[in-house]
Amino acid sequence: MEQKKVPLVVIRRLPRYYRYLSDLNDMGIERISSQVLSKKLGFTASQVRQDLNFFGGFGQQGYGYNVKSLRNEISKILGLDKHYKVVVIGAGNLGHAILNYPGFAKRGFKFVGIFDNNPDLIGKKAGNLTVMNIDDLEEFCEKDHPDIGALTIPKESTANMAKKLEAFGFKGLWNFSHVEITSSLPVETVHLTDSLMTLAYKISSSAVDD
Ligand code: NAI
Repeated sequence: MEQKKVPLVVIRRLPRYYRYLSDLNDMGIERISSQVLSKKLGFTASQVRQDLNFFGGFGQQGYGYNVKSLRNEISKILGLDKHYKVVVIGAGNLGHAILNYPGFAKRGFKFVGIFDNNPDLIGKKAGNLTVMNIDDLEEFCEKDHPDIGALTIPKESTANMAKKLEAFGFKGLWNFSHVEITSSLPVETVHLTDSLMTLAYKISSSAVDD
């Protein structure tokens, strides 16, 4: 299928389509119109059609979208038809929290290692894994070839660690540290506080509207 250059803003919407279509598929629903899809997701129907047209347009006039095939196409576009090995760097609160969430594995993201530099944590259980010494990460990567490094360490250590992960052959960085990373690898930064600040804005602007 021929693909146009897809804006990141469209890519960022795809997980929402994917999650909703997965729910519909689990409920045994076979098709959905762009109107209903857009209403459920809070987009306009024309935005839905435009978004999906980037990938060749899956809808049929008078039929709408086939839930399963649209979900499968979005899964391929997002690369979810592959499996990714994830390593957590930093076995603190956040490292444990993401490691212990079973939902990532369902989407093809498998945690294969967790590393720390604190001797009190090394050797301790973390989910089904044991916290390993960060000094052993290179050797681990030579054997296991992990794809994604989840950075849950303090921001002071993050830039240096990102460079190491690049050198050790990681393919992408999932950055939770409160610092932007410059890397030749794809980086996805997650800031829960940004989301809270946006919520604060929504609360204050709705208070102004009242
Ligand atoms: P934490 O202090 O519980 O855990 C950090 C862990 O990293 C510790 O176990 C520490 O020993 C380890 N560590 C430090 N330097 C290391 C290195 N060079 N190599 C290997 N391990 C190292 O902290 P917490 O609460 O888990 O937060 C971790 C990071 O995530 C912090 O930078 C924090 O600011 C950030 N954070 C980000 C959030 C977000 O929404 N993006 C939300 C909460 C925290």
